[in-house]
Amino acid sequence: MTRAISLHDVSKAYTRGVRVVDRLSLDIAPGEFLVLLGPSGCGKSTVLRMIAGLEDIDEGRLFLDGEYGNDLPPSDRDMAMVFQNFALYPSMTSRDNIGFPLRIESPGADPAPRVDATARMLGIEDLLDRFPAQLSGGERQRVAMGRAIARHPSAFLMDEPLSNLDAKLRNRLRAEISQLTRELGVTTVYVTHDQSEAMSLGDRVAVLRGGVLQQVGTPRTVYSLPGNVFVAAFIGTPRINLLRGLVRAPLDGAMTISLGKQFLRLPEPLSPDHRLLRVQQGREVIVGLRPEAVRIAKPSAARTGEVALTGLVEHLEFQGHEVLVHFDTGSRPAVVPDLEAPHPRPERPDRRRRREGTALHRLRERVGALRAGPAAAPPRPGPPDPAPASAPAGPRVPGDLVVRTTPDIRLRHGMQVPLLVDLAHLFVFDRSGERICPNPARLPDLEE
Ligand SMILES: Nc1ncnc2c1ncn2[C@@H]1O[C@H](COP(=O)(O)OP(=O)(O)OP(=O)(O)O)[C@@H](O)[C@H]1O
Ligand SMILES: [Mg+2]
Repeated sequence: MTRAISLHDVSKAYTRGVRVVDRLSLDIAPGEFLVLLGPSGCGKSTVLRMIAGLEDIDEGRLFLDGEYGNDLPPSDRDMAMVFQNFALYPSMTSRDNIGFPLRIESPGADPAPRVDATARMLGIEDLLDRFPAQLSGGERQRVAMGRAIARHPSAFLMDEPLSNLDAKLRNRLRAEISQLTRELGVTTVYVTHDQSEAMSLGDRVAVLRGGVLQQVGTPRTVYSLPGNVFVAAFIGTPRINLLRGLVRAPLDGAMTISLGKQFLRLPEPLSPDHRLLRVQQGREVIVGLRPEAVRIAKPSAARTGEVALTGLVEHLEFQGHEVLVHFDTGSRPAVVPDLEAPHPRPERPDRRRRREGTALHRLRERVGALRAGPAAAPPRPGPPDPAPASAPAGPRVPGDLVVRTTPDIRLRHGMQVPLLVDLAHLFVFDRSGERICPNPARLPDLEE
């Protein structure tokens, strides 16, 4: 039997007054594969552990199949957890490792038939008589999965189960997990900070930031209609281009979004989504353009809804099947603080004084100031502001606009290149990071 899992306004604080999970509400349907996605420290494991019963829920309610479950002991929840550090008993063979929970559960019963069936399902029959030390990382992880599956739990809770493996193996096991959980039809909650893993596995993806749910939706929805700039920036690789823009909407002229040295002229008649931007007249916004929303082509080749820009080639990233071109368009990148600097550590004052005294530091500061242009508005008081801050700290990524193109287009560093922006794929976020274009009233789940 597979479970429905519901969280209603669930909060958790390890230190008084500091919520690491903040009023989280989620309804996970029986048989659904839900991925909890977010940066390190955003509370993903804590949520999973609360569902498992390994962590107390401070506030809010957990329901398992509609029944209040906050106080249910972990052993009565009938859920199997798979962790990143899959702990197999070193002195037991794979067979005994898989069979161990079955022996505990039903002491008199012979676990062999279930162990064999599980091994067949996972393709690890040949490994059953080996000890963990005689297995590769991927094989060990499969045995750990076997241990979780053999029990026929009503839900799987997986906490970054693949993050210790190399990329190739991770991809293979990812596909296996997906197939297996679908075959078993068991509700699965899967934690990861890897957005591509989330997108490829989840029926739905729940994006967390600082313990607060940002958005939950299908992979397609969170990619194509991100609720805010954080979700837009967290999902998709290469990352969405985020530029600081200024809306100009004169009564007697075309509406434009200024991007520093250039501007996007919104085509007339304005689309319903673009019409909504009129109220932003004179305000600073964040313009989001995915790398596939821009193409290299002359203005004369523009299709309906495309507008022209130009860019100076600053850097080329050859990827084999495609090339990522970093352009300088004279605009200023917007910064999403949680992504650019997830855990800024305060620098020791003595170290900072020493660093600030060097000529190299002064030169860096000067170059940084010239590139950043005028400073952005200071952050507002209150909760952390996802709005654009000043130029990014740390190493500068070349260019302000990354565009995906095919390897047959020959480009050289320093070339000035015509670009066409497809305004059907234009995202605009307000200063607080909320999406204002496309229209936020276009509810994601109505789209599908
Ligand atoms: N037992 C604990 N006592 C105190 N603070 C804790 C405890 N466990 C977690 N935290 C804090 O709670 C926050 C959320 O932690 P959690 O482990 O849920 O994050 P996460 O999203 O799983 O991160 P990661 O991707 O790094 O595993 C972090 O700031 C962490 O330091
Ligand atoms: Mg974790």
